[in-house]
Amino acid sequence: LNVIVIAGGLSPEREVSLRSGSRVADALRRAGGVEVELRDIGKDLLPALAADAPSVVFPVLHGVAGEDGTIKEVLELAGVPYVGARPYACRTAFDKTTAKAILQEAGLQTPESVTLPKQAFHDLGAAELTARVLARLGPDLFVKPRACGSAFGVSRVESPEDLPQALMTCFAYHDEALIERRVTGTEIAVGVADLGDGPRALPAVEIDAGTGLYDYTARYTPGAVEFHCPARLPAEVAQEAARVAVAAHEALGLLDLSRTDAIVTEAGEVFVLETNVAPGMTETSTYPMALAEAGLDFGVFCRDLAAQAAH
Ligand code: DAL
Ligand code: MG
Repeated sequence: LNVIVIAGGLSPEREVSLRSGSRVADALRRAGGVEVELRDIGKDLLPALAADAPSVVFPVLHGVAGEDGTIKEVLELAGVPYVGARPYACRTAFDKTTAKAILQEAGLQTPESVTLPKQAFHDLGAAELTARVLARLGPDLFVKPRACGSAFGVSRVESPEDLPQALMTCFAYHDEALIERRVTGTEIAVGVADLGDGPRALPAVEIDAGTGLYDYTARYTPGAVEFHCPARLPAEVAQEAARVAVAAHEALGLLDLSRTDAIVTEAGEVFVLETNVAPGMTETSTYPMALAEAGLDFGVFCRDLAAQAAH
């Protein structure tokens, strides 16, 4: 089996992707039975794919041009098999607003929200826009770029006067903002894996960022966040979280692997924040933790995914 791991790319999550990608490549090499090459996105990518004729590509790209399905379109055109969801499903899942609509249609709960184009900020002005958002969603909010990752451009807003600044931060990453009512509860990440026998949830990982946010620094600084795997949830709530993660994976038409991030309320309700088609695979990422808890070797898992995609 000859695998090209593609990592790096063009998004703000480039550094994260390089860390995820080299970890996947190392794990594949350790698992054995695989020839592994690690490549970045660049103009030499297509000639390399043609020359080396890999049996399969394992894209470990986060953010635009990777997670949004662009690279998968290229691989489809080049006729190279790859791990993970098809282009359309990637594009849908990476777009938080569209994905929320699909998840709601599937009967899953997600925080109430509005999506605002940058232009609305200019047209309405900060005061009017803030008043409208507050009337719809109340004052405790999260502002996120409509499509991005690793918490880039995400702000928590606790008082109305902070909303304009949060929007400007967001608009640095995307032309549309997703503004969500904050749901309080336990933050969890639930990986889903499909090794040919249907999608199954991995043990949920609980993320305890203390009084802080699970922002970029917290995500990628070892020790900054306390993780509990399995999450400290009553058995029936853990089961519900697993059901929701698999349902989200299926509703979005995903393949092979995904990670659904959610908030579990005190009442045991699961609110989906988003589903990631290219979950982080760094030393501090939750997906590999969940695999370990499930008793799956990371390298063997990656090799199995590559092997099934190659067929
Ligand atoms: N976007 C980052 C890599 C994640 O979801 O893990
Ligand atoms: Mg994400």
